[in-house]
Amino acid sequence: MRKDKPSRTALKVALVIVTLGAKPGMGTLLPPGIAQASQDVLLASGAVGPRTIRWAATRQAVSVYEAFDWMLPGQFEAFAHRKAFFERQVREGIAAGATQILVLGAGYDTLGWRLAPEFAEVRFFEIDHPATARLKSKGIACLGKRKNLCLIAEDLGKRRLVDVLRESASWNQNARTVILAEGLVMYLLPEAVASLFRQCAEMVSEGSRFAFSYIPTGVDGRLDAGRWTRLMLWLQTVVGEPWTWSVRPEELDLFLKSVGWEQAPELEGASGKQGVEFYAVAAK
Ligand SMILES: C[S@@+](CC[C@H](N)C(=O)[O-])C[C@H]1O[C@@H](n2cnc3c(N)ncnc32)[C@H](O)[C@@H]1O
Repeated sequence: MRKDKPSRTALKVALVIVTLGAKPGMGTLLPPGIAQASQDVLLASGAVGPRTIRWAATRQAVSVYEAFDWMLPGQFEAFAHRKAFFERQVREGIAAGATQILVLGAGYDTLGWRLAPEFAEVRFFEIDHPATARLKSKGIACLGKRKNLCLIAEDLGKRRLVDVLRESASWNQNARTVILAEGLVMYLLPEAVASLFRQCAEMVSEGSRFAFSYIPTGVDGRLDAGRWTRLMLWLQTVVGEPWTWSVRPEELDLFLKSVGWEQAPELEGASGKQGVEFYAVAAK
């Protein structure tokens, strides 16, 4: 990806959430307050201007995204399911005793910022590329910092996660943790994905969870994003954030075991597919 520039895909996800907030019927699916918080973070960070935000929150924008569903059926609404899935994992994880949340490749995601005041005893950490993380930090500083939310600007392709977390005074390696990698692992190389899972396993206690979304590998052994896979792969490459990792859902368990985790399908809502992505939860 273009490491010196803020992530375009992170911006796209946040803008889609703003637009989903303008789509009738989404109120019951989207986590409460997420559309407004996404607007606020994007504006305060300067990622986009007020005109873009105003347009993103219109019914016309909804129609434009819906028109693109011919290419990736269900993908527009899938972002609402995705946000709901990850927030549910965090809330359930906290209810089950987690005291630490780590959001990898957080982009402009607002979960940490929204949930930190509600769960004052839980520590929230976010990591993203410096170009994106610094912009977001600026936005969070304008909106009001949370004392239990720590934003870390690091390129995980350059520095090992274990070193980054060990440097953070408030990270507790013995805490039950929920790790989120939402829309992240498809952008990493295979060896980086395996290493990331292993390092995460090293940095958290037993009883921790790792929730992530991934693109499946198709029958031909290539990444499968549906009928328009080739076009999608090309578009991702053009924006400078190519998809480079996928896994066969039936081989996920084996992969997770090889990197220190167990697939946890028994956790409520722990697997399934929306749009082009599968969701999964691993347990340690
Ligand atoms: C598709 S965006 C998803 C953002 C967020 N998780 C969401 O769903 O709203 C992918 C994010 O991963 C981040 N990312 C990709 N590779 C990374 C790396 N090597 N180190 C840190 N962040 C990375 C990008 O900067 C971007 O913010």
